[in-house]
Amino acid sequence: MARKKIIAGNWKMNKTPSEAVALINELKPLVANDEVDVVFCVPAIDLSVAIDAVKGSNIEIGAENMYFEESGAYTGEIAPNMLTDLGVKYVIIGHSERREYFAETDETVNKKVLKAFEHDITPIICCGESLTQREQGITIDWIRQQIKIAFLNVTADQAKKAVIAYEPIWAIGTGKTATSDQAEEVCAAIRQVIGEIYDDATAEAIRIQYGGSMNAGNAAELLAKPDIDGGLVGGASLKPEFGQIVNYNK
Ligand code: 13P
Repeated sequence: MARKKIIAGNWKMNKTPSEAVALINELKPLVANDEVDVVFCVPAIDLSVAIDAVKGSNIEIGAENMYFEESGAYTGEIAPNMLTDLGVKYVIIGHSERREYFAETDETVNKKVLKAFEHDITPIICCGESLTQREQGITIDWIRQQIKIAFLNVTADQAKKAVIAYEPIWAIGTGKTATSDQAEEVCAAIRQVIGEIYDDATAEAIRIQYGGSMNAGNAAELLAKPDIDGGLVGGASLKPEFGQIVNYNK
């Protein structure tokens, strides 16, 4: 069965709750494409109003982070049942910005992935290499390691439902997109390592996104690659341009 494409916006630390509602209302008609799963990952404080604002549309709401404990003395953190209580379906785990600025590691990523599955929240699991790693020729080794640790103790049935986002760090917010061949090479390697950890059926089912300066001009070429099943879009997800990305096939 062909994998359904999944195109997610990552709003990062942008938009107040009232701005979020205005943006959703602006984008709603532009992202109406039932052939694609459309997700808006918004700041935690916007989740509640965003869930209300997307009612009746094809948009699902995701969080940008979540903690790996159920509840307790973790000031400032968001518990998984706080997300499910609102109707949040997705959560970004281990974005490179969280790894760089908030000390997330492959091990905390793994704990969060397991916790998300426990609560039936689909994790969008981020991986990606730095420019130095790419220049040193260790991209594939690095990504394989990130994936192997992220999926420790994750069952095949869970892995089939996961989304992986390959985001080369040097392409994030830089306007420098990986070429479609560079992106495909790594996404294919990710599918291969999933096949090694699990089996062919799991590798065929899992969806792998590309992220890093995806825009209306490059989306169609990236999304035409056999192992690229969607996009995780930063800057362009805050603009009407996101509608063109979601409708890349029209
Ligand atoms: P940009 O699309 O702004 O490069 O951001 C990509 C990203 O980090 C999405 O998670």
